[in-house]
Amino acid sequence: MANLYDETYERSIKDPEGFWGEVAEDCHWYKKWDKVLDDSNKPFYKWFVGGQINTCYNALDYHIENGLGNQDALIYDSPVTDTLRKYTYTELRDEVAKFAGALVDQGVKKGDRVIIYMPMIPEAVISMLGCARIGAIHSVVFGGFAAKELATRIDDAKPKVIVSASCGIEVKRVIPYKPLLDKAIELSSARPEKCIIYQRPMEEATMVSGRDLDWNDALAKARPQDCVVLEATDPLYILYTSGTTGQPKGVVRDNGGHVVALKWTMKAVYNVDQGDVYWAASDVGWVVGHSYIVYAPLFKGCTTILFEGKPVGTPDAGVFWRVISQHKVRSMFTAPTAFRAIKREDPRAELMKDYDLSEFKYLFLAGERSDPDTLQWAEKSLKVPVIDHWWQTETGWAIAANCEGLHHFPVKYGSPTKAAPGWDVRVVDPGCNELKPGEIGALVVKLPLPPGTLPTLWENDERYKESYLNEFPGYYKTADAGYIDDEKYIYVMSRTDDIINVAGHRLSTGAMEEVLSDHPDVAECAVLGVEDQLKGQIPVGFLVLNAGVSRDHSEIVKEVVQMIRDRIGPVAAFKTATVVKRLPKTRSGKILRGTIQKIADNKEFNIPATIDDPTILGEMEEALTGIGYAKARK
Ligand code: COA
Ligand code: AMP
Repeated sequence: MANLYDETYERSIKDPEGFWGEVAEDCHWYKKWDKVLDDSNKPFYKWFVGGQINTCYNALDYHIENGLGNQDALIYDSPVTDTLRKYTYTELRDEVAKFAGALVDQGVKKGDRVIIYMPMIPEAVISMLGCARIGAIHSVVFGGFAAKELATRIDDAKPKVIVSASCGIEVKRVIPYKPLLDKAIELSSARPEKCIIYQRPMEEATMVSGRDLDWNDALAKARPQDCVVLEATDPLYILYTSGTTGQPKGVVRDNGGHVVALKWTMKAVYNVDQGDVYWAASDVGWVVGHSYIVYAPLFKGCTTILFEGKPVGTPDAGVFWRVISQHKVRSMFTAPTAFRAIKREDPRAELMKDYDLSEFKYLFLAGERSDPDTLQWAEKSLKVPVIDHWWQTETGWAIAANCEGLHHFPVKYGSPTKAAPGWDVRVVDPGCNELKPGEIGALVVKLPLPPGTLPTLWENDERYKESYLNEFPGYYKTADAGYIDDEKYIYVMSRTDDIINVAGHRLSTGAMEEVLSDHPDVAECAVLGVEDQLKGQIPVGFLVLNAGVSRDHSEIVKEVVQMIRDRIGPVAAFKTATVVKRLPKTRSGKILRGTIQKIADNKEFNIPATIDDPTILGEMEEALTGIGYAKARK
């Protein structure tokens, strides 16, 4: 018998305009759309054209007008600074309106870009919503990126203003942000006119006279701003994500489709209602943070938690249970790596026993493949459904999930269950022919993508087409490979490009190779993601040195490790590299990455028929064993 999921899914695919048009009725519009889906300029699609909306209004003001003004909107829980601060919807709206005024004072108008480079503090959320309020386009940059990465984003987005803070806190270490910001601005050619800096007491930033403004001073003088009326198709934000080169892709999100889709997912996917407490333990610098720390829970009228800490060490592996129990969290979302970290420190979940978790109903995992071990450990310890769901920065919300608000399907370990409504997922071969159930191929989505996804890349329609649309005409290429079984469960196996997932963070090995090649002694290099028990994958570098280089190899390795840290950032977790005489390649010169990876992970492999010289594989094995991989692995 059909269930609510089946009915909803079928409707969303057969009649997307009817379906999303009805869903959109649940949002606040200044003016309703003229057309739900505009497909007059394929392969570019626009949702809710002619509609007028404001994202910040839907996140805050709308709820205040509907009587939720005194409900908590945001709980800032920071074990690293021992702070707990709550904002009601009214309080948050007032701060946001003031911050929007501070932006207006600096000449920021609709369509201007504002870069936000901040740790997990409420001011980061206030900045995002403040931009949305006046139609400025925010671009949040994750704090763990180095100055050079920030500079690349500054040059692409050309922000009028940058908002930052004096420092972040990594467990017990204070990380000064301001020197990184100053360096990034120095490196960039599109310098912002002003920076607004939030001074934290742990590290006071030195201000650049004439350019930098203190957050508190800027807000003290500011006049609160009302929401401006925006077109549904106006951009809300740009979020840069790793591409296959050192130049990240600026994923654009528009206002209308984003409000519609994200608000709807709160019930359909996460099964939460207005008034429930929802917690995404991620960072505002990632898409999960944008969608599920900030926007979706506020659209739904939930209380969202902003957690400045780590799953372990702040102070211990029980902190997730403390937060869930103290704030009565109903549904939580994090990356599997966080649970691997907890499981490693507290394998029997002893620390859980200290807390009342009776209000807790679901755990959602995404960002990387959920290994069945970790998922089952979480199920057994928490005794709630643990839901793996699959999505990407580009998609903004889940492509596949066990949609808990529609129907709960039996879990198949290793699968994020079925395509979410709106997503027509197929598996195709390189010729774009659809494969049979169980056959592995490229996971693609038939166009149009649903609302809330990326309409294009920032000022780069060509790269958008090239990256996602050209290879499989009529489909969006997810760049994930996998299969769909005969019950329509989707299995996501691996990326088809050189993106790796390190602790749920998406990184480009191509970008790391670009950095390594800049070392004067390196003739050729490769970076691969190898299996890691905690982080899922970690990058390992292979260096072929220029002829005649006689320096100590360990010195060169130390230097390249530092180069990645300086240019990409600590988040790359690049700590291991080794010098090899040559790299295994095909006769046409392609590096045999898959084979090296299997050797590193100590897995069985076939000698590729196309290999130029099979003896190199023995050399690789030796080199990898020397740094703790291959045969050195159990
Ligand atoms: N600002 C500055 N530095 C940062 C940073 C930030 N916002 N976030 C991370 N870093 C640094 C860390 O301090 C670390 O530096 P180090 O090499 O000097 O130790 C490095 O970047 C790697 O950080 P991280 O990936 O967080 O690794 P970790 O070993 O400190 O912690 C986990 C491992 C699993 C606990 C951690 O990755 C985690 O909590 N993951 C949760 C998953 C998550 O948030 N995923 C996002 C998508 S849902
Ligand atoms: P990001 O853009 O950082 O969210 O990374 C997206 C990529 O992470 C996807 O293309 C997948 O490769 C991987 N990913 C995310 N969620 C899952 C999941 N549930 N299962 C398998 N892979 C996932």
